[in-house]
Amino acid sequence: MKECGVSMIAIGSDHGGLNIKKSIVNYLKKHNIDYKDFGTDTEESVDYPMFAKNVANSVALGEYELGVLCCGTGIGMSIAANKVDGIRAALCNDEFCAEMSRKHNNANIMCIGGRIVSPEEAVVIFEKFINTDFEGGRHQKRVEQIMNLENK
Ligand code: RB5
Repeated sequence: MKECGVSMIAIGSDHGGLNIKKSIVNYLKKHNIDYKDFGTDTEESVDYPMFAKNVANSVALGEYELGVLCCGTGIGMSIAANKVDGIRAALCNDEFCAEMSRKHNNANIMCIGGRIVSPEEAVVIFEKFINTDFEGGRHQKRVEQIMNLENK
């Protein structure tokens, strides 16, 4: 695996994704990767859209290079994050999707489910996400076509 080139990660979760967020944060600390944790910090039930919005806005503004959003399935976070212009949030509950979401879709946020993957699997999936580059080429125009959907 190549050296991680990502400088800044925005990460957030709800209660359903807190366990895997903690394991990813531990990985970030261990590898000295800059990050900001947008919460939540406890097991108390919270509404995920606000966390999705805060992480997605920070990535869309360019304050962070990539984002990670963890909830029970990753689904709610991905639906919410994709409402923010400039965001390509991909549901990545396995390594293959993490790899393809970067290579083909140039995803800038990874969404993942703490009720689907283990904390150990979450780290492996995250590692794949941040260490895979967009391939460009024939995928460039497709990603542009996606982004043009924002300009209704
Ligand atoms: C919370 O119970 C759960 O709905 C949330 O974590 C997420 O899975 C939504 O998509």
